[in-house]
Amino acid sequence: MGGLLLKVLLLGASLTGFLYSFVDFCFYGKTVLKRPNFVIILADDVGWGDLGANWAETKDTPQLDKMASEGMRFVDFHAPASTCSPSRASLLTGRLGVRNGVTHNFAISSVGGLPLNETTLAQVLQEAGYITGMIGKWHLGHHGLYQPNFRGFSYYFGIPYSHDMGCSDTPGYNHPPCPACPPASAVSRSSPGKNCYSDVGLPLYENLIIVEQPVNLTSLAEKFAEKATQFIQQASDSGRPFFLYLALTHMHVPLTVTHWSADLSGQRLYRESLREMDNLVGRIKDKVDSTVKENTFLWFTGDNGPWSQKCELAGNVGPFTGLWQTKRGGSPTKQTTWEGGHRVPALAYWPNRVPANVTSTALLSVLDIFPTIASLAKVNLPPKRHFDGLDISEVLFGHSHTGHRVLFHPNSGAAGSYGALQTVRLGQYKAFYITGGAEACDGSLGPERHHRLPLIFNLQEDPEECAPLDSSSAVYQDILPKVTGVLVDILQDISGDNTSVADYSHDPSVIPCCNVLEIACRCQLPL
Ligand SMILES: *[C@@H]1O[C@H](CO)[C@@H](O)[C@H](O)[C@H]1NC(C)=O
Ligand SMILES: *[C@@H]1O[C@H](CO)[C@@H](O)[C@H](O)[C@H]1NC(C)=O
Ligand SMILES: *[C@@H]1O[C@H](CO)[C@@H](O)[C@H](O)[C@H]1NC(C)=O
Ligand SMILES: *[C@@H]1O[C@H](CO)[C@@H](O)[C@H](O)[C@H]1NC(C)=O
Repeated sequence: MGGLLLKVLLLGASLTGFLYSFVDFCFYGKTVLKRPNFVIILADDVGWGDLGANWAETKDTPQLDKMASEGMRFVDFHAPASTCSPSRASLLTGRLGVRNGVTHNFAISSVGGLPLNETTLAQVLQEAGYITGMIGKWHLGHHGLYQPNFRGFSYYFGIPYSHDMGCSDTPGYNHPPCPACPPASAVSRSSPGKNCYSDVGLPLYENLIIVEQPVNLTSLAEKFAEKATQFIQQASDSGRPFFLYLALTHMHVPLTVTHWSADLSGQRLYRESLREMDNLVGRIKDKVDSTVKENTFLWFTGDNGPWSQKCELAGNVGPFTGLWQTKRGGSPTKQTTWEGGHRVPALAYWPNRVPANVTSTALLSVLDIFPTIASLAKVNLPPKRHFDGLDISEVLFGHSHTGHRVLFHPNSGAAGSYGALQTVRLGQYKAFYITGGAEACDGSLGPERHHRLPLIFNLQEDPEECAPLDSSSAVYQDILPKVTGVLVDILQDISGDNTSVADYSHDPSVIPCCNVLEIACRCQLPL
């Protein structure tokens, strides 16, 4: 049934595509450029300082650094949330979690996903005749109609959630280490180690079918690279415009490395894995360069900051060390609204359109991807809803330096209630109504604190978020009513646009399992 539905959907999409390539030919053809292709590469748990172009200490990203010198690098670019599912939901909807309903992560037994009445960027582009593909980590629901094939992607190859949310025979590097899946011959299920998720194998999907369970993590990056380059080749051969969303498993733990050696440990492991990611991005860019270079917009960024709880297996925040929080325990990174939680590397590459070797200091967000791509593809935004992102094409083309005046950072798990807008960015200032850390490497937690008078930091002078402004100072008195005002305004706006609610209920029967008779759900189909 699912297969038939998929075929009908795919047929519908290819007919629309046929009609639209005709439109492209007739109206965009000779005089105007054909509609552009879009490739979004989203890294996982990558730190702002993991990009060599951002942070000179990092020497492991030659391909990304080259992309920065051939395109635009954004230094004040933010993830819309500080954990996986909310950040990805906002990328694909252009809306904050308090509007689209996704305020925290989905689990392996989650029944729901990104609410079905939210329209994804992929749906909008697919309806406009684009070939749409999603490769990599989804994490927006894996049961029934929440799967990528029903959310606008005509092709999907990847894992339904994070790769630490299931076991593997090749478990990679985690802190603490997790065991391999119980072997097929095991007489009873073993219990997974502390902090290790499950004895159900991590599944790998191609469209609606599990093709491998458990996934071999050692070869996963290579498979993603192969499928992504094939997708680009086939889409380019078809003559239709395409949209590829490639969500990497790097730099989330468990880490894998291509070139293993016995002396790899700690930070060196992380750096080797960073090189693996860099190489993977380089291969995708090379493929774009050799097929559809002139007409393809490539965007690289991250979903949230590093996962410090993983100690030396976590990324580098650069100067955004969140010292106010670290002095009080807990880590100021992933899951928090400190800069280390949401300020992410970001690069835009589009030869002859986006100027080369330019650094932009505009205040921008992953939320901007949807409105910007919709504008570049000349499609309308879905009606009857508000978008939190902006069309930033003028910034991309070098015609403007103006991004957001205001950004809101939602709670993503460390303190306060999920999704709540607890931190406000206004120009160079950042106000915290609630602070809190995530679990740190040393096990400290950094408990939640509410601030009746918000802590306000001047990020320009204090990127470490070390010392808040004195609340009796003239600057503080000037900024306070402004941040209060913008917060009141957005909360009012959201209260009229918050009907999407994600189903976070659990049911063990929805855990992906290709063979319930086998321990760890083992199966393997020829790819
Ligand atoms: C996993 O993949 C690697 C690289 O392709 C291969 O060398 C290894 O044998 C595979 N391991 C298993 C358990 O299949
Ligand atoms: C990029 O700009 C920097 C500084 O503005 C300059 O040193 C460097 O040579 C430029 N690189 C390229 C490839 O043009
Ligand atoms: C939407 O906003 C209204 C007004 O603030 C609030 O009462 C309601 O609980 C919100 N709904 C959801 C689903 O959050
Ligand atoms: C989304 O679904 C909810 C519940 O079914 C409904 O109340 C709401 O109006 C829908 N929102 C949109 C934007 O369609």
